[in-house]
Amino acid sequence: MLSWDEFDKEEGEVAVKGANAGHAAEATMDRLDSAGGAAALEARAVTANDSAAVARAKASLDQLDIAEGLAELEGASARVAVDEKRMINCRADLNQLVPFKYDWAWQKYLDGCANHWMPQEVNMTADIALWKNPEGLTDDERRIVMRNLGFFSTADSLVANNLVLAVYRLITNPECRQYILRQAFEEAIHTHAYQYCIESLAMDEGEIFNMYHEIPSVAKKAAWGLKYTRSISDPKFETGTVDTDKELLRNLIAYYCVLEGIFFYCGFTQILSMGRRNKMTGVAEQFQYILRDESMHLNFGIDVINQIKIENPHLWDAEMKEEATQMILQGTQLEIEYARDTMPRGVLGMNAAMMEDYLKFIANRRLSQIGLKEEYPGTTNPFPWMSEIMDLKKEKNFFETRVIEYQTGGALSWD
Ligand SMILES: [Fe+2]
Ligand SMILES: [Fe+2]
Repeated sequence: MLSWDEFDKEEGEVAVKGANAGHAAEATMDRLDSAGGAAALEARAVTANDSAAVARAKASLDQLDIAEGLAELEGASARVAVDEKRMINCRADLNQLVPFKYDWAWQKYLDGCANHWMPQEVNMTADIALWKNPEGLTDDERRIVMRNLGFFSTADSLVANNLVLAVYRLITNPECRQYILRQAFEEAIHTHAYQYCIESLAMDEGEIFNMYHEIPSVAKKAAWGLKYTRSISDPKFETGTVDTDKELLRNLIAYYCVLEGIFFYCGFTQILSMGRRNKMTGVAEQFQYILRDESMHLNFGIDVINQIKIENPHLWDAEMKEEATQMILQGTQLEIEYARDTMPRGVLGMNAAMMEDYLKFIANRRLSQIGLKEEYPGTTNPFPWMSEIMDLKKEKNFFETRVIEYQTGGALSWD
């Protein structure tokens, strides 16, 4: 590691000691600035060795106006003060990451990086043997694996596209954007994980990737999400009015609370339940890593939504609350229908009625997380083991080895 103490000592020996040290250092810096500037200009001069193409490149850079370039950047004329930072409609320079206003967003970015994983690290051998064995799984179990790979293989692309093509530019805060970039990469890893499962099990790719068109219970969930992407992905769409700010808020609720917060839960529960019964353990391990990432995406989204509410209380009026409640209830309904379709009979110690209770329990959580009234009073969680899997602290042992490997591998040593 670099030691800044030693670095300072060396510099100190060169600098003049005593009361004038500061002035002397400043004068040295000024001299260096002007020497550096002159040297850079000299490098621009066309020499006899330069080809015509190199000479043209140098000449065209003479026309480059720094002030003009910076003026195109939003509010980029000054150093950023924390108070100027805002989640939406911020005028401060978005290229300056610090000072942080939302420490939680930066912390989630660091946590996401510390939990990095790749699909190829998961051993799929036992899954391949079980999938190929005609006696290995029941028809109901095979249906669950196929339907979930069908739904998830495109759902994570919908989420990634929504983030990159719609949400990213409208969230005007650099530490949140830093997390969104991390999340977007994680969504790519998730899509990779589903592709890896589909390839390992030699499934018909066309059939699986097309389910979001062909299977109604999958298609309805995708269509429900897509309409919220469409509403803000027009490049001309801008926030800044009550209507457009609400439109962005609706998109965040649709994707973070419903898609990532409800639509994933029936599938996660089914596949993880399979893994708990020692079936399709590789697929289940992939889903377990994905679930851990997803619970962080969800928590980030809830924090962003709540922060927008705090900074723009006028957006969170009775009409918006009613709309948000309706969105979460519609999402719950679609997921209940998906549970019925994927589980027409009892399987893996669960059935569609239990899943319905679980989804209502999850919906209550999503409603209360953004400050809305629970709509399914008295619902309890029939799958308490799911909460244990999602609880990062309890999960730590399971992931410890891998996390440590990445942290060691990723840390640079300058010794
Ligand atoms: Fe994902
Ligand atoms: Fe996600």
